[in-house]
Amino acid sequence: MDITRVIQKKRDGEALDSVEISAVIDGFVSGDVPEYQVAALAMAIYFQGMDESETSVLTKTLMESGESLDWAGVEGLRVDKHSTGGQGDKVSLVLAPLAACCGLQVPMVAGRGLGPTGGTIDKLESIPGYRAELGGTEIRRITEEVGCVIASQGGDFAPADARLYALRDVTATVASVPLITASIMSKKLAEGLDALALDIKWGSGAFMKDVESARSLGAAMAAVGASMGVKTSFLVSDMNQPLGRAVGNANEVREALAALAGEGPADLLEVVYELGAAMLTSAGRAEDTVAARALLEKELASGRPLEKFHEMVRAQGGDLSAELELAPASEVSAARAGYVSAIDGEALGYALIALGGGRRLIEDTVDPSVGLQMRVRLGDEIEEGQPLVELLSSGRGYDEALSMVAGAILIMDEPSATPALFTDNS
Ligand code: URA
Repeated sequence: MDITRVIQKKRDGEALDSVEISAVIDGFVSGDVPEYQVAALAMAIYFQGMDESETSVLTKTLMESGESLDWAGVEGLRVDKHSTGGQGDKVSLVLAPLAACCGLQVPMVAGRGLGPTGGTIDKLESIPGYRAELGGTEIRRITEEVGCVIASQGGDFAPADARLYALRDVTATVASVPLITASIMSKKLAEGLDALALDIKWGSGAFMKDVESARSLGAAMAAVGASMGVKTSFLVSDMNQPLGRAVGNANEVREALAALAGEGPADLLEVVYELGAAMLTSAGRAEDTVAARALLEKELASGRPLEKFHEMVRAQGGDLSAELELAPASEVSAARAGYVSAIDGEALGYALIALGGGRRLIEDTVDPSVGLQMRVRLGDEIEEGQPLVELLSSGRGYDEALSMVAGAILIMDEPSATPALFTDNS
């Protein structure tokens, strides 16, 4: 097939059929279609969108590029969560072991950093020895033995999403409803789930900048999930400031460990509980969200989820015996007194990339030790000279990151309204 004609068709706003979508995706995986043509098509999709049927076909094609997990003969219910991403979102690290302790099986497949948003796999790979690339057999075995696993797409598992994801990361083609839907749902559906809870982020640090776009994305993903027989629910949550205080790979693992030890920041725990309640109720493990939340809180307080996290890390080859190393910290201070009125999460995400905590090119390696530590929240009243953010830097990209971080925090004379952590999803 002439791939140039497929790109042209989408560029001109026409719908693609399943033969055309498969020709591009299968050709991309086999090496017959070069990256530059796939990047051009991704940009055409970014501008022209895809209808429901094209999005379903793209999801299925990405999913079928690798194996799907078969749970025949295995007792229990497989339930997972996924977030559309932001800064400081380390919910998966806390919730996977917590949900496992509440009796669910969580065979989580996650991604690396995408654009200015962090990736669960990059975070976990800051743990020495952690192996994220597992085949289906290993994902299944660890899920059965431990109750949860967090593996990466790629290898035999949604390989087409892994390649497209990496390409979108460096071609500014992430923030597209059909591309996000197909990317997330392909790997989640390949997990062979009974239910899925989605966290759709909106705000300055998210791909969806307003609530309406977040709702549309959630509805598109829930429709694909339902059409493939997976009970899919979604909530819409705030990403107008980082979740928790820690941003950056090793830094976020440390905060996740603190949360598992009962010392997590309140906003992070709220998201953990809300999504956990959606997972437990949709699986029928709790009668309603009140009962689910009580169970989640009790389990977290027991200390068992922290043990479960260590068990999972060990099962994936990781070694947490030593504290994870962080780069030296320096403070960014307020140039004036006032109220923290806006935080540009996207700028913080790109500052992390400038420090080496994310990628500008597919082949870039990530420095796990760099990051940001937020010292203020939206609405805080501050003095001139007060520390706003700590920059954890190994030297690389320091000046660039410093100016991005300094410009990311808006201080005004009067306090302004702070967005609610959760927004109605309809
Ligand atoms: N998470 C994914 O896995 N894919 C996207 O496209 C966005 C967030």
